Amino acid sequence: MVILAIESSCDETSAAVIYNGQMRSNIVASQIIHEQHGGVVPELASRAHQQDIVRVVNAAIEEAKINKNELSAIAFTRGPGLLGSLLVGTSFAKAFALGLDIPLIEVNHMQAHVLAHFIDEPKPSFPFLCLTVSGGHTQIVLVKGPLDMEVLGETADDAVGEAFDKAAKMLGLGYPGGPKIDHHAALGNPDAFEFPISEMPSYTFSFSGVKTSLLYFIQKHGPEFVEERLNDICASYQKTLITTLLRKIRKAAKELKIKEIAIAGGVSANKGLRKALTVEAEKQKWSLYIPDFQYCTDNAGMIAMAAHFKYLAGEFTDQLVSPMPRFQL
Ligand code: KG4
Ligand code: ZN
Repeated sequence: MVILAIESSCDETSAAVIYNGQMRSNIVASQIIHEQHGGVVPELASRAHQQDIVRVVNAAIEEAKINKNELSAIAFTRGPGLLGSLLVGTSFAKAFALGLDIPLIEVNHMQAHVLAHFIDEPKPSFPFLCLTVSGGHTQIVLVKGPLDMEVLGETADDAVGEAFDKAAKMLGLGYPGGPKIDHHAALGNPDAFEFPISEMPSYTFSFSGVKTSLLYFIQKHGPEFVEERLNDICASYQKTLITTLLRKIRKAAKELKIKEIAIAGGVSANKGLRKALTVEAEKQKWSLYIPDFQYCTDNAGMIAMAAHFKYLAGEFTDQLVSPMPRFQL
């Protein structure tokens, strides 16, 4: 079974080849054009996908050392994501599958983030809880099987990745902000300042309050103070976000009596979060699963992994498929 997978939901054009469950290639082209605009510009994202996709797909096939005629199926991200971006990957996958006369497999991007845990060892065992934290989502997912997932709770407003990105913008750090806050936070004191932790019921998250409190903090103290104490501000703000995430996953683990815990999505690349979860896992005797950095942020490897499970389950898509920007898990 040889599957070519394509990911184009946001600002990464990516293609991967999975060969009998083994990842043979995972090529990611990140669009730098958005940096100068301080965020992803949808129109520019779709154009960049259009420009990059053939090169990226060819590179993935070449690195995998396969011939196109060996492919058993073509997989693609159907959603959630930006419509224009999704359309490029979807159309390309449909045309490629049509040309080779092989099946198509649609993949939910959030399901794929969770299934990234099955690319390398060690793999979690079912059921496990996955904290999926990205630029568009913040979810606690109960994973009962590779294709059997239930969202226990999600954010009522901003995703945690957005809370990182918007804070970075306010602090003049540019886009994408998550890695920049992460970098400054590692150099600062997390107890220097206090930002409010949202009190939401059950497994619901909220990050708009903490973001607004940072805005007021910046307005109150002024640019000189912010520049001088940048590391401490980043460390304190990041600590608030991490504490919020930890509280909810701890609650879910306790209430569901599950000790297999995983994190996924772009924010799982955050060094502070990885460290805090590792400490918590030791305390709570959890088996903790953190994906390799290359499989945290958007990549087609995770789409290929999800497609592998769908192929085994006989879940294929017909040529009438169109993207779903708000595809639910
Ligand atoms: O999963 P992803 O690549 O794309 C979406 O599906 O949204 O996640 C992107 C998000 C962005 O908000 C980015 O700032 C955040 O992941 N991110 C980080 C780090 N690396 C990426 N956030 C905090 N610390 C990081 N090191
Ligand atoms: Zn993602």
